[in-house]
Amino acid sequence: MARVAIVTGGTRGIGEAISIALRDMGMKVAANYGGNAQKAKEFTDRTGIASYQWDVGDHQACLDGCAQVAADLGPVDVVVNNAGITRDGVLQKMSFDDWNDVMRINLGGCFNMAKATFGSMRERGWGRIVNIGSVNGQAGQYGQVNYAAAKSGIHGFTKALAQEGAKYGVTVNAIAPGYIDTDMVAAVPAPVLEKIVAKIPVGRLGHAEEIARGVAFLCSEDAGFVTGSTMSINGGQHMY
Ligand code: CAA
Repeated sequence: MARVAIVTGGTRGIGEAISIALRDMGMKVAANYGGNAQKAKEFTDRTGIASYQWDVGDHQACLDGCAQVAADLGPVDVVVNNAGITRDGVLQKMSFDDWNDVMRINLGGCFNMAKATFGSMRERGWGRIVNIGSVNGQAGQYGQVNYAAAKSGIHGFTKALAQEGAKYGVTVNAIAPGYIDTDMVAAVPAPVLEKIVAKIPVGRLGHAEEIARGVAFLCSEDAGFVTGSTMSINGGQHMY
């Protein structure tokens, strides 16, 4: 039986590459998206992967969205918590909304999605949850107290839930991407980004597919002994 996977933020950027990688492994994939219906339609037309709209920061919407995917494709075996936003700014300029939106979506989304799916994985004795953290959650980043806190929280969330899932065959891991050539990174002011890239030993931005390959491994049958881990894929920017 093909595994059923949900990828949040799965129609663009890193999430798009992950949705395609899991589809290519033979999984039935549901790609969640938050707001960009036009991009989601283009993605579905191009890949044949179904897309589903809901806000991962909305608890009830996650329960309802995951129930809909289960009704359409079957019980959910794999969740990749990839959806995330930035609201960068130094602390003095950061509003409470900038803080709260990032915490609610980036970190709250992981909780909401786990609440919607973990119990069923546990009961069925198999599951894979992969949470997309960040090098900036490991190392911090000027102008990102909100994002760094949320991503750092994801790494703690991963290790705690991994302990709860281990004896039920549910693994929970994180990937910490570095700077990847997506729209999110393209929004960093060019002079700032140049300085960041200059400090990446591999000497370039990463590609979304390089993150997706790590996710695919962690979601595979072969990765059953890997849990509570963080795989850093960052071109050597931060060695941990
Ligand atoms: N360390 C120390 N000082 C720094 C600094 C740094 N890394 N970056 C900026 N500064 C200093 C500047 O030199 C400047 O100092 P002076 O006023 O003395 O000249 C001061 O801070 C203000 O800098 P800016 O002019 O850049 O301030 P700003 O308010 O216009 O912008 C900012 C601040 C929005 C944080 C901007 O610097 C920025 O966008 N930085 C990049 C943040 C970043 O890397 N985001 C990653 C997004 S992608 C992502 O998050 C994906 C992932 O997982 C990796």
